[in-house]
Amino acid sequence: MIVDVAVRRVVRLGQPVIRAAARKLTPDEIRGPEIQRLILEMAATMDEYEGVGIAANQVGESLSLFLMGLNEGGSRHPEGIPITIVANPTLKPLDEEKEDDWEGCLSVPCLRGKVPRYKKVELSGLDEKGRAFTRVYEGFPARVVQHETDHLNGKVYLDRLPDLSTLTFAHRV
Ligand code: NI
Repeated sequence: MIVDVAVRRVVRLGQPVIRAAARKLTPDEIRGPEIQRLILEMAATMDEYEGVGIAANQVGESLSLFLMGLNEGGSRHPEGIPITIVANPTLKPLDEEKEDDWEGCLSVPCLRGKVPRYKKVELSGLDEKGRAFTRVYEGFPARVVQHETDHLNGKVYLDRLPDLSTLTFAHRV
């Protein structure tokens, strides 16, 4: 039933919106037509660019909102990640342990680097209906949640690279 949803252009590193802390949304705003439209556009954009996650500032909107989702059956995380919409995310590590793995970013095209991330985190935020939730994520989805929450605080994965020598070109990010 998605009709006439625009794919937005992804903003790349170097545009100030990528480095700005995003404004939080109210539950009423989230339920309103502008944010509901933005959510659809971000979903279409994530699909078009083949991303696993996308933050609102990556489509030029400095609002605390991200989406994630991954089809089942891929090599990275065969279980997939259901389409998930999160506003105003806050994170709490549930385990001090971190693990290194590859990350790329639609706003930093063509590159990948090995980033340490907490293995297990508790994510609190508002869903697409403006309802508060708290969920626990582990492994690859926990990584995506940390990457996207960083975006909304004006950070990109490059800021988290302990060893720049892992940075490498990829055919596709
Ligand atoms: Ni990114």
